[in-house]
Amino acid sequence: MAAFDFRLTGLGPGGTTAEQIRRRRLKQGWALERLAERTGLSRTTIAGIERGGGSVASLLSLLAVLAPKARRRAPERAFWGEGDKQDRDSRFTPAEFMANIYEAFGAIDLDPCAHELSPVIARRRILPSEGADGLAEPWAGSLVYVNPPYSRLLVWLRRAHDQWRAGNAETVVCLVPVRTDSAWFQEVLRADADIYFLRGRVRFLDAKSKGQHTPFSLMLLTLGAKPEQKARFAQLVPGY
Ligand SMILES: C[S@@+](CC[C@H](N)C(=O)[O-])C[C@H]1O[C@@H](n2cnc3c(N)ncnc32)[C@H](O)[C@@H]1O
Repeated sequence: MAAFDFRLTGLGPGGTTAEQIRRRRLKQGWALERLAERTGLSRTTIAGIERGGGSVASLLSLLAVLAPKARRRAPERAFWGEGDKQDRDSRFTPAEFMANIYEAFGAIDLDPCAHELSPVIARRRILPSEGADGLAEPWAGSLVYVNPPYSRLLVWLRRAHDQWRAGNAETVVCLVPVRTDSAWFQEVLRADADIYFLRGRVRFLDAKSKGQHTPFSLMLLTLGAKPEQKARFAQLVPGY
């Protein structure tokens, strides 16, 4: 299970499946004998499963009684899945989330990686559909909002950092996946950025304005934000 990153949801708390099963049984108030009777398994087998042993067949018999709604938890990812490939870079920030950005940080001057179907309201939008390129054209404005194509996340964060350091943007607010492993992130960006880890996830919109499940954690990374702007955002959006 560890090798396949196979975890169950719908069972109960616990760091391992075995622990989850044991805690679920105790929560139900069932002794081993009672569960053995109901599942047709022996007490020894059930005790073995609760220690992390047992066969897949006995685990399934046990789950059918103890937690019929248990199912595989979606694996943690840092990318949209293969199935989303076609338009995985075109996920738009929903208007409800944007309302918190406007409220905390103010009106947006520039969206350098915009899309004509996106609800983001900005004085200027750099649209690839018009042949424009936010990685090449200079940024300008007091507030820049960046929800970039994740397939080139680091390139966009570097661009944001460069443009901010060049003084082309007073404040840059980036909504990005929590991907913090690169040397550049840890050595350079971290020194200048403020990072707010969101609790829960944002449901981004697809081209049909349908909310999509997001399979990874998100953070709001800001450059040059004022303390009162960050404090206001933290009042509006849960996280730390
Ligand atoms: C994740 S979407 C976000 C759109 C919008 N910023 C939002 O938050 O709703 C990223 C968008 O970046 C745009 N994009 C991709 N490459 C770009 C480039 N080189 N210059 C400007 N925009 C680009 C595409 O239109 C794509 O839809």
